[in-house]
Amino acid sequence: MARSSRIKGFYKLSLDERLKIVAEWAGLSDEEVELLRNLGNLPEKIADSMIENVIGGMTMPFAVAVNFKINGKDYLVPMVIEETSVVAAASNAAKMLREGDGIIARAGPQEMIGQVMLVNVTAPRYKAMKIIEHKEEILDHARQQDSTLLRLGGGPRDLEVRVLDSRIGPVIVVHLIVDVLDAMGANAVNTMVECIAPLLEKITGGEARLRIISNYATRRIVRAWARTKPENVGGEDIAKKIVEASVLADIDPYRAVTHNKGIMNGVIAVALATAQDHRAIEAGAHAYAARTGVYKPLSYWELDEEGYLVGSIELPLQVGIVGGATKVHPISRIALKILGVKTAKELADIMAAVGLAQNLAALRALVHEGIQKGHMRLHARNLAIMAGAQGELVDKIAERMISEGRIRYDYAKKLLEEYLKGEAK
Ligand code: MEV
Repeated sequence: MARSSRIKGFYKLSLDERLKIVAEWAGLSDEEVELLRNLGNLPEKIADSMIENVIGGMTMPFAVAVNFKINGKDYLVPMVIEETSVVAAASNAAKMLREGDGIIARAGPQEMIGQVMLVNVTAPRYKAMKIIEHKEEILDHARQQDSTLLRLGGGPRDLEVRVLDSRIGPVIVVHLIVDVLDAMGANAVNTMVECIAPLLEKITGGEARLRIISNYATRRIVRAWARTKPENVGGEDIAKKIVEASVLADIDPYRAVTHNKGIMNGVIAVALATAQDHRAIEAGAHAYAARTGVYKPLSYWELDEEGYLVGSIELPLQVGIVGGATKVHPISRIALKILGVKTAKELADIMAAVGLAQNLAALRALVHEGIQKGHMRLHARNLAIMAGAQGELVDKIAERMISEGRIRYDYAKKLLEEYLKGEAK
């Protein structure tokens, strides 16, 4: 008989009961069950309440990028990522960008947009005006929803109304602009738009449909820039080639996507370490990259009149240091402590700066020795460690594998045996 994935009340079972079902389903060994059951540094209660149907945990390495100086302040930057080289590359580029005040970053106001979609509105353009006429009343209504935000100086700021023609007839889209201060803002904004929707229905005679935050956070733009001597990146020739690489991203979306992916390597690693909604950040960033109708790079590299390499980045970042998983996950709290950030704005500054540094590291590697050499060096070291090498043997074995072009686990094991027996030099 075919197995059924229809499992009634699966969510009501305990973690162990759910794990038992899955283990039977997949034929997991006792060892595999034990490994999956290990929740690492996430307490079981928290893990089981964060999402549904939890059966275990998956640990990712938590690293720290060094050398970052942003707005004149030194930071150790926590990064969680599965990809080799990203942390090393960020640290390297941060070193190149340390002169003066280092990377300068400026996050704007922390305003999010909440949308209400209204359909079946008669005379929609006139009704759009009516919404504007009632703006203060609507904003006041939204203000009733979050006293903490209001007390701290945030809250609803403005209202924007558009009428969009569509295949289901005219649609009114109302934007509620909310200053969310140090929160990512989804909860506050979603509550507010749900609350103003009935009032908007009353004013327009229409029906509210969607009431939800927009992750196209165009009112939460962060800009960062940096200037460095060509010597710091390996000389004038490399600086010039970095500029050329930046040009390709500007003229070709096929390159721009990879260029931006490299930026997001850094941004998302910090987002993961601090338990941000990284899907929101990613979606918003790529939409912003395509805001002109053509997908463009989020960063640019140029040479200034003194021949210095200058870089700039601009992207929307929706991040929070209060609420959400940030405060629930014990490790994200530690990450924020390592960063020492006091505001969401500061976190956004850091993330943009890391994105810029990550991009410089990638372009520099690409125009210089290519990306694979560094990757392979780390990969070889990892294999040596996995094979059981310790201390100086890690590098010795890695170097041998690289020089002989045999970067494989079985060869690492063989070399380790030889070294331990004293057969290899
Ligand atoms: C790899 O994860 C990221 C890069 O491809 C970025 C880039 O090409 O700019 C190296």
